[in-house]
Amino acid sequence: MKKIIVNGGKRLSGEISVSGSKNAALPIIFACILTKGISEIENLPDIGDVKIALSLLESFGALIEREGNKTMIDTRRLRYVDPDVDLVKKIRASTYLLGACLSRFGRCPVMSFGGCNFSLRPIDMHIDAFMKLGARMDGDALVCDSPHGSVIEFRKASVGATVNAVLLAATADGETVISGCAVEPHIDSLISFLNSCGASITRHDREIRISGRSLHGGSISVIGDMIEAGSYLALSLMTDGNVRILKSPLFDMKASLDAFSSLGAKICFSDGSLYGSIDDGRYFSVTTAPYPGFPTDLQPLLAPLMAHQRGGEITDNVWPTRFGYLSSLSPFGVKSTVNDNRALIFKSEIRNGISSAPDLRGGMAALICALAAEGQSEIYSAETILRGYEGLEEKLCALGADIKIKKL
Ligand code: UD1
Repeated sequence: MKKIIVNGGKRLSGEISVSGSKNAALPIIFACILTKGISEIENLPDIGDVKIALSLLESFGALIEREGNKTMIDTRRLRYVDPDVDLVKKIRASTYLLGACLSRFGRCPVMSFGGCNFSLRPIDMHIDAFMKLGARMDGDALVCDSPHGSVIEFRKASVGATVNAVLLAATADGETVISGCAVEPHIDSLISFLNSCGASITRHDREIRISGRSLHGGSISVIGDMIEAGSYLALSLMTDGNVRILKSPLFDMKASLDAFSSLGAKICFSDGSLYGSIDDGRYFSVTTAPYPGFPTDLQPLLAPLMAHQRGGEITDNVWPTRFGYLSSLSPFGVKSTVNDNRALIFKSEIRNGISSAPDLRGGMAALICALAAEGQSEIYSAETILRGYEGLEEKLCALGADIKIKKL
């Protein structure tokens, strides 16, 4: 267990670089299981979730080498072993083992997959897609002797189900058409990576067409993390700072930047950097939706800012119960109430406090409060935040923050 000790109340300023996207990196890492070759991945973020994903690949016999900003993954000689349940239950993206192992080994146990527990996280759509592609249940495992192309219609946009269906269909015999897909930028980067490995995959709007192929190693550079960039913007605005955010994936952030503007922030771009200021905030309501809508992963980061300004409302239509983190913000003075999938955030005096990271983004929201509040704060379960933010201590200290991460 780790905790973050923060001496807050400092105006943060300077430059901070956005790392590779967690949610883009993880499907690409698991997609390597489909390939027989050496893949070269640039800009993999050095974060907890990525380390666990790479360890899972190593358990199948993958050879992994890091050289500067490049990671080489050699999957020529993999053999099936039951995935390590302790690793599987640490990250949500371990669900991608299902599609990847079915494709490479023809089997994968259905386990208790980990990650942020802000809601029940069903995988019924993943399983339905696998069945359409020729899989069946055998006890607690999914098995698939000869995956074949199929027509899959998702009833709602799911990142996880889209990734898993693409993983199995990429090497299945014949043509697959998947409609109702998620269209997050990381879906497109998975498709680009698989195509570099010899796959034949195209996407038009929410429809993906795949012609199954056997795959060799490929290459990709992981896109910048739009949620990390949004987190730093929230942090700068909360501390009345002047932080320039480099390598922000601006195009992917349109809905997020619109939300910050509606809250009263002036958002600027210059020389490839993103920055913002806020003089007079506005009461603001935001509703999450699958991409290109406002991302559910960013709603916890807006809550401190709403409380610090004029208050606001958050409706989450993707994860309707994703408000457990608000109790971790109350030690910092954030006042809120929750009714169904809607939270009211009241204008509040932000103060220092002791709290704990309930999940990745909720933990970052707590850290943002601690950085804005005068005096010393502590945040326990800091490893939950480090699952998704690369070099957090160094990056924030370089902006003038006084934070220390301590092992307990
Ligand atoms: C991914 C992201 C997570 C993000 C979420 C939404 C990773 C590792 N995680 O999670 O950070 O918060 O997308 O952008 O990339 N659903 C079903 N049945 C299913 C699957 C999903 O009903 O089989 C529903 C869920 O309850 C939820 C919605 O679909 O309401 C979206 O979930 P999904 O996009 O699948 O989330 P994850 O892939 O788990």
